[in-house]
Amino acid sequence: MTETASPMSSVGRPPAVRPATPQMLSHVAWVTHDAVATAEFYEQVMGMPLVNAFTDPNVPSTGDPYPFLHFFHKMQDGSIVAWFESPGLPTPAVPSDPAYDIFNHLALTVESMEAVDAWMPWLHEHGVETVGPVNHPGIAYSLYFYDPINHVRLEVTYPLDPRWNSNEEFARSAMDEWAQMKREAVEAAPDDPRGQADLIVEMIRAGRARRPGHAGSPEGH
Ligand SMILES: [Fe+2]
Repeated sequence: MTETASPMSSVGRPPAVRPATPQMLSHVAWVTHDAVATAEFYEQVMGMPLVNAFTDPNVPSTGDPYPFLHFFHKMQDGSIVAWFESPGLPTPAVPSDPAYDIFNHLALTVESMEAVDAWMPWLHEHGVETVGPVNHPGIAYSLYFYDPINHVRLEVTYPLDPRWNSNEEFARSAMDEWAQMKREAVEAAPDDPRGQADLIVEMIRAGRARRPGHAGSPEGH
């Protein structure tokens, strides 16, 4: 019998209350095929010490039978970039579009614009190609590169506005505008995703022309 939600199901129980907002990034984790080379890159090039590592014959949360090494590299605020190596996994599928390798990324805050600049020669000296630094007006100054072992896109960034992550009202209106543009594009070009994207390009450009100097929507980010 299928269980259905009903008001009765909560009888005798207090309503659930949303807990406080999470405090900080604990860790982000990916799969690697070379734990030793990855640890070397994050320690020696990125300057993030290896602070913990453990093995297990299977996955504790699900019981799945993948033996693994899980290891952790720490940043100054205690947040962690973590990895799993599990022998015998095939290489991951190639993304269906290069956009996924551009948009999916991990951005790491550094202490100044000069620090962003300093990362460029350091990375080049270690054979890592970079893009930028890119100035996103009113938001951030950023250098982009790929972790050469795992092809994870990384960004070292300095915020140009200390309040860049406190623009709630602006964010809400940008979200509403985006949803409206998508609706209009789908109506105008149903079953044509590329056509919809072209229409959205036009709508974004028209919006910028209406509001010159409008910050918060940097190119290439
Ligand atoms: Fe970013």
